[in-house]
Parts: sequence; C-alpha cells; structure tokens
Amino acid sequence: MLAINGGKPVRETPIVARPAVYSEEVLQAIADVLKSGILTAQHGKWVKAFENELASYLGVRHAMAVANGTVALHTALKALGVGPGDEVVTTPFTFAASATAVLHANAVPVFADIDRETLNLDPASVEEAITDRTKAIVVVHLAGMPAEMDQFLKLADRYGVKIVEDTAQALGAEYRGRRVGSIGHVSTFSFYATKHITSGEGGAVATDVAAYAERAKLIRAHGEVGKYSYELLGYNYRMSEIQGVLAYYQLKQLPEMQKRRDAYVKVLLEELLPLEGDLITVPRPKPYVKHSWHLVQILLAIEKLTKPRDFVVEALRAEGIGNVFVAYPTPLYKTPLFQKREGHGLGCPWTCPYYKRKVEYKPLPNAEWAAERVVSLLVMPNLTEQDAIDTAKAIKKVLSEVKR
Ligand SMILES: Cc1ncc(COP(=O)(O)O)c(C=O)c1O
Repeated sequence: MLAINGGKPVRETPIVARPAVYSEEVLQAIADVLKSGILTAQHGKWVKAFENELASYLGVRHAMAVANGTVALHTALKALGVGPGDEVVTTPFTFAASATAVLHANAVPVFADIDRETLNLDPASVEEAITDRTKAIVVVHLAGMPAEMDQFLKLADRYGVKIVEDTAQALGAEYRGRRVGSIGHVSTFSFYATKHITSGEGGAVATDVAAYAERAKLIRAHGEVGKYSYELLGYNYRMSEIQGVLAYYQLKQLPEMQKRRDAYVKVLLEELLPLEGDLITVPRPKPYVKHSWHLVQILLAIEKLTKPRDFVVEALRAEGIGNVFVAYPTPLYKTPLFQKREGHGLGCPWTCPYYKRKVEYKPLPNAEWAAERVVSLLVMPNLTEQDAIDTAKAIKKVLSEVKR
C-alpha cells in the first residue's frame, strides 16, 4: 500500500538534500574575518580571491561576485546596454528571475519555446521570436543541462544580439568541451543554498569583454567612480566577505561534490531504466555535453496515469523522498505577473513609450507539455547511492499503483 494511503514508506528516515558540510578550515577563515573586522569586499581579500578562482575555473578574463543570481542577471543585462524599448528572448520554463531580471532592466521579455529532449530553449523557436527590437537572449542551462550554445551563437551573429548564459543551475557543466558560463557574451551564476556551490545567497557575472566587466563593476557599486561621484545608475549588489569565504572554499570543493552528484544520478538513472519510455522519460545529455545535475527532471507519461502529477509528487514525499518537487509547474507567461502586466507600475516596461509595441504571450506547446508532467529531484552532494536506489524504488511503487 502507498504510504500516502497509510502503507509503510520506502524510507522510514526521509531523504533530505543538503549542501556540503563546511570544514574546520572554513570555520576558522570565517572566525578570522570576524576578528579582523573587515567584512566588506572593498577592503577584504576573500571576495577578490573567489573572483580570481571563478575566472580561472571558467577560463574567462573577468568574474564579478554579486549578492545573488537575480541581480547578476540584472547587472549582466544592464552591462550589455539592455533598457527601455528593448526585447530580450528567454524561456518560460525556468525560475522567474531569468525573465524578471529583464523587467528590472525595464525591457520586455519575449518567450520562445523549449525543446522536449533537453527542456532548454529551442533555437528554431528563439529565431522566430527575434525582432528588430531584440537586444539579447537569456539562455538558461536548466537543471544543469547545457543549452545548444553553437546555435545560439550563430543567431547572435546573424541578428546582432548578445547571449547571456544564465548558469545559475549549471556550474560545472560543459558544452563541447567548454565550461558553460564561458561561452556567451556575459554569463551569470547563483550561489543560493540549493546550487552547485553556495554562500547561502550569492551570485556572479563573468565575461571575457573588458567593457562589460567595467560596466558590471560600476552597476554593482552605485556607479561610483572616485569618492561620491556617480557615473551611471548603479545599485548595491555587492557580496560580503563572509559570503566570499564560503564561495571560495565551495568552489575548491566543487569537483569532489560533483563526483558525488554524478554517482547518485548514475545509480538513479540505471534503476529507472525499466520505466523509461513507458511511464517516464528523463532528458539525457547528448554525447557532446556534460550535465552537472542540479536536478534530475523526470517527465511522467500522464496519459497513462489515473492520478494527476501532483498526487505522484505527494505520494513520493509520503514514501520519504524529501527532495522531490516540481520545477516548474507553470510557464512564466501564465503567471499573474505576465498576465496582469503591472511591472514597474503603470504597465512599464510593456507600455513604455519607447517600446511602441504590444507583445503577445501565446501558449508555447512544449513548455506547457513539460510544465504539466515534470517531476524534479533536487540533487545534492550528501545524497548516496542507497538514496538513489530508494528513490527509484519509491517511483516504481507509486507509478505501478497509479498506472492505467
Ligand atoms: C535559472 C535561474 N536563474 C536565476 C536564479 C536566481 O538566483 P538567486 O536565487 O541567487 O537570485 C535562479 C535561482 O534561484 C535560477 O534557478
């Protein structure tokens, strides 16, 4: 009997996905920062050290640490000169920030459809969405799966638009031998607690282009050039020194943490093979990419089930699978923010006089297809091969109860 109906759960002790435990060395470094009294990046060494490590890890010239992944995107878009009257194409099947950062820059997000095999933006749909207003494309590497960068770079050349890689979910992933986040014109990262490396909150912007890096640094710190002289509209998007310590040591630990993610996912995917193509499909990486597994996305064959997807998720939780959730249940254009279009108030940026157009948010069939059937497992380095076995067991148990 399913645990949700009073049966015995697969796991008595539920699976909990947690970030890596910090070592004594990290605790000591934090104590040293506190004792030194130097808590800000301007005066300290840790944020700078982290930026150097991140730039060298990615193989790019410039990396700027910021407060989180959302402001990283805002900073990247503003560094590229995106503003009123511009359109930015992105995916509706992502976390809100990939699109709301465009609104923060006072530009209009335009959604293109996704590819069912990767759940990432479909280059053909992006091409259709490009207009003479398009300034940039925010390409999200969803769940750790690299997007088709070669094709986006071709579109960038053909239409004179810039590529922002939203790498919030994909640090460590590779596309044709290159680390994602080093391929587009500017890339952004999040170090939120569920991400590949974490400083609790945190983010970064990376680029090879000195002019974008210079603008990003100004945007991050009030546009200040010289003491109390302000060159452009900036913000306070800085990372603190304590976050810098955490991010620095986490990045050092990344390869080892990735090994543990990979080991969990390998077993999970093997165990799920009997269901594959029948009751589920799992988007698998193509041979020329390396997936970094922020999430394992499982697409349910909902037509073959007697219960809705949300029941399956609740039933899995009841079986003790604590890292199951839905990313993402609603394509962004269907959420009230994009339906009501209040934006900054008075309807901007959609009604901005510089825009002079009316964007329509039409249903995108593949995004809707994915949103109604996806079930997500958060992958973290603490998860074990036994956790993978139990998870597959719970999925088999639940699906065999609800299949037609
Ligand atoms: C794809 C994507 N972009 C941007 C963000 C925003 O990052 P943050 O939460 O650090 O602001 C997130 C996640 O949290 C994300 O998943």
